[in-house]
Amino acid sequence: MLSGAEVAKHNSKESCWVVIHGHAYDVTEFLPEHPGGMGIILKYAGKDATEEFDPIHPPDTLDKYLDKSKHLGPVDPNTVEKIKKEDDPEEAERQKRIQNKPPLSQCYNLMDFEAVAKDVMKRGAWGYYSSGADDEITLRENHEAFHRIWFKPRVLVDVKKVDFSTTMLGTKVDIPFYVTATALGKLGHPEGEVLLTKAAKKHNVVQMIPTLASCSFDEIVDAAEGAQVQWLQLYVNSDRAITERIVRHAEERGCKGLFITVDAPQLGRREKDMRTKFTDQGSNVQTGHQTDNSQGAARAISSFIDPSLSWKDIPWFQSITKMPIVLKGVQRVEDVLKAIEYGVQGVVLSNHGGRQLDFSRSGIEVLSETVPVLRELGLEGRIEIFVDGGVRRATDIIKALCLGAKGVGIGRPFLYAMSAYGLDGVDRAMQLLRDEMEMAMRLIGCTSVDQFNSSLVDTRNLSSHVTGVPRDYLGHKVYDPLVTPAFKPPKSKL
Ligand code: LAC
Repeated sequence: MLSGAEVAKHNSKESCWVVIHGHAYDVTEFLPEHPGGMGIILKYAGKDATEEFDPIHPPDTLDKYLDKSKHLGPVDPNTVEKIKKEDDPEEAERQKRIQNKPPLSQCYNLMDFEAVAKDVMKRGAWGYYSSGADDEITLRENHEAFHRIWFKPRVLVDVKKVDFSTTMLGTKVDIPFYVTATALGKLGHPEGEVLLTKAAKKHNVVQMIPTLASCSFDEIVDAAEGAQVQWLQLYVNSDRAITERIVRHAEERGCKGLFITVDAPQLGRREKDMRTKFTDQGSNVQTGHQTDNSQGAARAISSFIDPSLSWKDIPWFQSITKMPIVLKGVQRVEDVLKAIEYGVQGVVLSNHGGRQLDFSRSGIEVLSETVPVLRELGLEGRIEIFVDGGVRRATDIIKALCLGAKGVGIGRPFLYAMSAYGLDGVDRAMQLLRDEMEMAMRLIGCTSVDQFNSSLVDTRNLSSHVTGVPRDYLGHKVYDPLVTPAFKPPKSKL
């Protein structure tokens, strides 16, 4: 067994060993290839890197990418130098906030989890999850768009019994939302995505497994119980052989839907993420090598995504899988029509949670434009339409269903609930949505989801941003207001 002292000698670019989960690895030759840059590895050269490694890398990463000859074997755990947390004042403050966080019972809606998460999450993790593209106009618009839709409820309907179960791609679910794919679950909680699997099971909703999960794909599938349904979100790799392997494997393992992300040929610029990530963890060791770690977590993990993906590839996907194919990130009616033409089974009207193109419109607005066109063309029902982005209330879910969506995806709120309170948090978040759903259905005068229709909503104001301008927080903050002519100072009487 190696000793910590032996490992500690290899603390430079010339010879760099790290300890991960009690085993030492020689990563010297891998340094220049590391997608997140070599600086971050060098910070842990000769030390235990487990805590930093875990959220960003699925556990099979080392087996896949580091030659076996570089796996140096177990290290005596008592001899490995620990990086003391108390030495970091920011971390010490965070630990205090964790001690004093509100009890879970004080969270009454999805926003409450976000408020707590903001204060208890590590800064970098919060930066990655919460950030949106550029001025974050679309990020905010996604949520605000729901506030421009009002209800026209029916009264005197017997609503003693309400049932909000439905089906999505043939799967029966208890409530019309699914846990959408979000990357790097372990940044928020050490269990990562499998925790969401458990919550999805409990509430009988579908979980979409992210390509960029912290847990491995198999761990997430293994965590599912019985007939629990999962879908796969796919980032298409430039190496199509890799993509084909992933898709076939997902189908073999029982995934019931393939959601191909189509709004991210390149990941957006999330400046909050860029400001907080990795740069502040930079190494003192000179790398002499310009890496991409200034770009935040997102860029570091996404260099493999193929920007050449196009409609031409769709038949190929159809040839390699029998799973229903859904295009995730469609943003205009014309592309929904194209999706129907190409024979895919669904679309997610989504702008990637406002993380990609700023000033792309909300999914809910695109939905309200799309369904009437499909109806006019006799294409309604030809494709399942999902919406994600900004959903925080059951009334938001109902609005989407009234406008013709099959269901909605919810991402960040569950990450925040998980980060702040673990499984109990996600469980409560889902329960709150259920409770809201029951109440809202009664107050709207509907007893089942097939009764939702566009006559129940007033969308006249939905496109009002056409005449209004979103608030430009960054611009206003830095704007140096013009001044008017200054009067001479009053003459002194003395
Ligand atoms: C993101 C990608 C990885 O939005 O989905 O960060």
